[in-house]
Amino acid sequence: MARVFVARELPFPALDRLRAEHEVEVWPERLPPPRDRLEDREGLLTLLTDPVDAAVISASPGLRAISNYAVGVDNVDVEAATARGIPVGNTPGVLTESTADLAVALMLALMRRLPEAQAAVRAGEWLTWEPARLLGRDLHRSTVLVVGPGRIGKAVARRVQGFGARVIEAGRGDPLPLAEADVVTLHCPLTDETRGLIGAAELAAMKPDAYLVNTARGPIVDHAALLDALRGGEIAGAALDVTEPEPLPADDPLLDAPNLIVVPHVASATHATRAAMADMAVDNLLAGLRGEPMPHCVNAQALSRR
Ligand code: GLV
Ligand code: GLV
Repeated sequence: MARVFVARELPFPALDRLRAEHEVEVWPERLPPPRDRLEDREGLLTLLTDPVDAAVISASPGLRAISNYAVGVDNVDVEAATARGIPVGNTPGVLTESTADLAVALMLALMRRLPEAQAAVRAGEWLTWEPARLLGRDLHRSTVLVVGPGRIGKAVARRVQGFGARVIEAGRGDPLPLAEADVVTLHCPLTDETRGLIGAAELAAMKPDAYLVNTARGPIVDHAALLDALRGGEIAGAALDVTEPEPLPADDPLLDAPNLIVVPHVASATHATRAAMADMAVDNLLAGLRGEPMPHCVNAQALSRR
């Protein structure tokens, strides 16, 4: 029996399998636990809101496995974990299609101005059918630039090709053909290389009628530059599922920017996907605590460090 801390209630059957083998404490609140609650555990099941940094890891001499309930692991100091021989698990694959769906939903909502159209109806501004009111852009006539053509980026590419769009891709280190794109959609992980990847120069290089969609990680986009670009009409609009910080404070000026959609990091938020992520996160943790290779591990080399 290991002492395991689960950083939030996961209302899916998977946790029962963890409780069957280990002494499990689940943080019961809606907001993240204070960081000292993560310390001095043998197993951790954390969310992307929980920093498992070098300080937490060094305050946990018995820590044997970290399982992140996310595909991104930028909240975990993987290097510090690896140095201690602690495997870090994540949840790739199971959330790919749901995340790609949300990226496309955001594109269409932006391009067809759905938030504005809904607000107009509720405000009593639907006077009659008008030839040139609420005109948007067609995804099927568009060129979509997929930045980060990995699992999720490829799933977005397949979808928009199904809509009739043309796809161009930019992988790690490639130049970004921003001037060619009607939609720029981000699907790279957050790393030192991708932090601030989309800044003032990149936004200026986009066409004034182009859109930016971020379902990856907030810090990949420079928010001050994005605010300027939206206010100045340098781009036609943006949709963010991720921001920096998260949550965005209610008085953040970005929330008053024109042509911006913000949703609260919900790309994987479907019943089936979140349940599948819970299964995978529990499988990773159980394997890690047994000293076996995790089914999905970002630092497989950790085991050889033991
Ligand atoms: C969500 O953002 C994830 O990384 O799973
Ligand atoms: C639109 O509803 C049309 O009939 O063209």
